Amino acid sequence: MKKIMIVLIAMSIATGAVAQTKAEIMVNNGGVESLRGSAELDVTRSADKHKRVLKDREPLQRNYVHQPPIIPHQVRGYKVNLNVNKCLSCHGWKYARETGATKISPTHFETREGMTLSDVSPRRYFCQQCHVPQVDGRPLVENDFKAVDSLSQYK
Ligand code: HEC
Ligand code: HEC
Repeated sequence: MKKIMIVLIAMSIATGAVAQTKAEIMVNNGGVESLRGSAELDVTRSADKHKRVLKDREPLQRNYVHQPPIIPHQVRGYKVNLNVNKCLSCHGWKYARETGATKISPTHFETREGMTLSDVSPRRYFCQQCHVPQVDGRPLVENDFKAVDSLSQYK
């Protein structure tokens, strides 16, 4: 019994020591690189350069049904917050006709339970959660994916 107690005490001291060294090295990234590079966790690194996005152009082809279409224009400085939604000032049904923007589709008015609201649903308010502009980058891996014929309405 006594032996077991001693072993247990020794073990708890050992784990305590490990926990302490872990706490000390918490801010060390251990050489791991992530999307934010290899900066230490407690260091504020300088911001990335703006990504190069495609110039304004025609809507891009959709690749599958229910794909959120890719944004075919610049969006720098377009604010979406509690007070304003720049996207809706063109894509909202009220303004779409005069701005020539595609109207948001009826799904954007639906709640999770399938109820249709009289205005854009909160879950579709932050447009860029789903819609993104595209960078003119080289594909990281080869990809010969082709959209089904019925969707190839745009070039
Ligand atoms: C100044 C008006 C304006 C604003 C603001 C604007 N858009 Fe657009 N958007 C357009 C127009 C016009 C088109 C259609 C382009 C065309 O047909 O040539 C378009 C196209 C799109 C499309 C492609 C639709 C499709 O059928 O493929 C998406 C997605 C989109 N915009 C999302 C957004 C998002 C998200 C924002 C906010 C970050 C935004 N837009 C802000 C005018 C605007
Ligand atoms: C949760 C994801 C999500 C969010 C948030 C969202 N959308 Fe969409 N959007 C989609 C999907 C998916 C489609 C294509 C299928 C559909 O219409 O639901 C779409 C389609 C569209 C289209 C094309 C409509 C058409 O008739 O072809 C426009 C324009 C658009 N969205 C604009 C917006 C704008 C502006 C916002 C912000 C107010 C927004 N979306 C927020 C997912 C989203």
